Amino acid sequence: MKIVVIGGSGLIGSKTVARLRARGHDVLSASPASGVDTLTGEGLDEALAGAQVVLDVANSPSFEDKAVMDFFRTSGQNLLAAEAKAGVKHHLALSVVGTDRLTESGYFRAKIVQETLIRESKIPYTLVRSTQFFEFLGSIAQSGVNGDKVHLSPAFVQPIASDDVADAVADYTASTPQNAIVEIAGPERVRLSDLVQRFLKASNDPRTVVPDAHARYFGAELKDDTLVPGSPNPRLGALGFEAWFALPKTPR
Ligand SMILES: NC(=O)c1ccc[n+]([C@@H]2O[C@H](COP(=O)([O-])OP(=O)(O)OC[C@H]3O[C@@H](n4cnc5c(N)ncnc54)[C@H](OP(=O)(O)O)[C@@H]3O)[C@@H](O)[C@H]2O)c1
Repeated sequence: MKIVVIGGSGLIGSKTVARLRARGHDVLSASPASGVDTLTGEGLDEALAGAQVVLDVANSPSFEDKAVMDFFRTSGQNLLAAEAKAGVKHHLALSVVGTDRLTESGYFRAKIVQETLIRESKIPYTLVRSTQFFEFLGSIAQSGVNGDKVHLSPAFVQPIASDDVADAVADYTASTPQNAIVEIAGPERVRLSDLVQRFLKASNDPRTVVPDAHARYFGAELKDDTLVPGSPNPRLGALGFEAWFALPKTPR
């Protein structure tokens, strides 16, 4: 089965490409570096020729409101149109748990547009919504920096390791379309401010986290359950924070 992975050079893309190849699939890893650009449409028709499945794990290079909206809207339109032309039978994309509860955030408004384009297309699909990756904790900490303090919401999170995300995404990619949203998450539910404090301490970073219910998460104020799975039986990854932190940090 030919599978095209859009964003195949990224964090989740590269790990998923390796897993699908190990299972014997014919996998094309596609990204601007390999001449495939969903934003301009360059290289898309050639990449999709003969493909049965497309997995979209690309991300916008800029999180600025307009840039990220342009990225997910235009890329989604270009990609789905090229897939319809090529006769693709299953489209998968990676989104974020709670996306529809985060409309105050420009990033999440763009992810909603990406999801809506997929649901309204005629191509059978699976939308995998993941919680935050542990690998994203450094960026989350950075987003709250204020001098030597880090202001973050104490809302609950249930982060997942990128290896567990790639395992789940590879399984869904090799299966039949769900035509639904599926949720994946890590094994532990913790408060964001507590977890980032643990992360900074483990990283020998002396900054302290100030729990602040009004601190915005990429533009949005969080309620306790905004970022945790809403479905009763999300697929859970195996690695908790300590096990993930103990892994050797390999360059991508
Ligand atoms: N971070 C989180 O905690 C989190 C949680 C849940 C879901 N997600 C979602 O997971 C997805 C993947 O995230 P990630 O961290 O693995 O991304 P990443 O490491 O930043 O990789 C982004 C990928 O997108 C590619 N790309 C950029 N512009 C492109 C374009 N114009 N056309 C085609 N490909 C393009 C990049 O290619 P080059 O290498 O060639 O630039 C790269 O392969 C995102 O959609 C994100 O919303 C993230």
